[in-house]
Amino acid sequence: MKAIVSDLKSIDETRQGEAFYMPDIDEVNDINLKRFYIESYGCQMNFSDSEIVASILAESQYHPTRDIEKANLILLNTCSIREKAEETIRKRLRTIDKLKANRPGTMVGILGCMAERLKQSLLDDEKLVDLVVGPDAYRDLPRLLNRAEDGDKGINVLLSREETYADISPVRLESNGVTAFISIMRGCDNMCSFCVVPFTRGRERSRDPFTIVSEATHLFDKGFREVTLLGQNVDSYKWQHPETHETYTFAQLLEQVARIHPDLRVRFSTSHPKDMTDDVLHAMASFENICNYVHLPVQSGSSRVLALMNRTYDREWYINRIEAIRRIVPDCAVSSDIIAGFCTETDEDHQDTLSMMAWADYCMSYMFSYSERPGTLAARKYKDDIDEDTKKNRLSEIIALQRQLSAEHNARDVGKTYKVLIEGDSRKSDLEFKGRNSQNKMIVFPKLPGFKPGSYADVFVESANSATLIGRIVQS
Ligand code: SAH
Ligand code: SF4
Ligand code: F3S
Repeated sequence: MKAIVSDLKSIDETRQGEAFYMPDIDEVNDINLKRFYIESYGCQMNFSDSEIVASILAESQYHPTRDIEKANLILLNTCSIREKAEETIRKRLRTIDKLKANRPGTMVGILGCMAERLKQSLLDDEKLVDLVVGPDAYRDLPRLLNRAEDGDKGINVLLSREETYADISPVRLESNGVTAFISIMRGCDNMCSFCVVPFTRGRERSRDPFTIVSEATHLFDKGFREVTLLGQNVDSYKWQHPETHETYTFAQLLEQVARIHPDLRVRFSTSHPKDMTDDVLHAMASFENICNYVHLPVQSGSSRVLALMNRTYDREWYINRIEAIRRIVPDCAVSSDIIAGFCTETDEDHQDTLSMMAWADYCMSYMFSYSERPGTLAARKYKDDIDEDTKKNRLSEIIALQRQLSAEHNARDVGKTYKVLIEGDSRKSDLEFKGRNSQNKMIVFPKLPGFKPGSYADVFVESANSATLIGRIVQS
């Protein structure tokens, strides 16, 4: 996934308390104020974690800034999923190194998956790094920072079987005030042979559902109108009440969150084909506000490759899951993740992936060429034997097919009217709004009086370009 640099906004919250809006910190002219700047890379879980980190840092009197030049503490929340993701961070550190030369005393911290994967070696290799903190150790940041302020480098990369940061109210860093992410679980117990996540994020654990519902309610009360429940494999969410021993499944959690208010949209990511139950689909069908969109990564269309990937489903199983989606939630959009050039992949396997994509008719896919990750099952057991050119060619074919499928989807949407949640101004013009329909498709349309971010509008789609639908509000 593309690394996106976070752009801090001036919203702050106290931990566990009522939310309040801070004045824009960058405008507060107090040179003694301690400021932190954070950049997030990788998946949505990392972006969500940065908001937890911001909340914990508030305890140490660190305030967020959007201006890296003003920061006393620069944090990179990092990703290890592919080699390129780690290279990006190393490059970024070179730039920060130059910046630090002009601002001695500025501390630099590496958080997230790269911190967890590389541990002490990051402190040894990257001399400018003062802190290395893994995804389960963020509560230790105030202590580590105290020590770092005294010149001692600090590291905590302990993984936990319990930590879910359930009691922490995240500081919404990049908020549009309408949509928000809520982490419902951490870690992953699957062992997909290509994947580094089980090593960087540890064992799977689910968060107390009561804290999830309360966070979502709180967001709704503040004017938010959409929450996305996040986990590496949301379908295996399972929480047992410590006293009653009652268990809660993902389908039950989804319904609880949907019941908060019909105007609160609920999304979730990521679903795992081996675990996605019909119960979840029935919940989607029963609640209008659970969005008709499933991200169901297939990875490969070849059963032989899927077995090597240790995905624990085959092509037939995956097809069966898509058929269940179509049967139970007829209007549902499906997207995917695809890896090109996994170990031993033949042309025939690659053709299976293309035919799977066309059959599943994905509205969107994240597409990657295989990148071997040290320590994973695949790195230990198989040879990374598909040459770079072949990987590149196969990936281009996959991308071209997805482009065609997306264009066909968009063309089919022209002439339809969708209920859209307005997220804010469109990227190109402040005379236009942008918002998504239930199927997660972005639609851009001219503003009309009476509509604002957070409102719902019925939008008639007039035309489409490759990425976006263009429409107008229809009023009854
Ligand atoms: N938990 C999610 C995936 C999280 S990682 C799931 O199981 O679907 C996001 C995506 O990165 C994966 O779906 C996969 O397509 C891709 N990915 C993971 N490891 C990779 C690797 N070593 N090389 C290339 N792509 C990889
Ligand atoms: Fe990685 Fe597989 Fe877990 Fe997804 S389910 S995070 S791909 S190990
Ligand atoms: Fe990357 Fe870690 Fe997410 S490796 S994809 S940031 S869980």
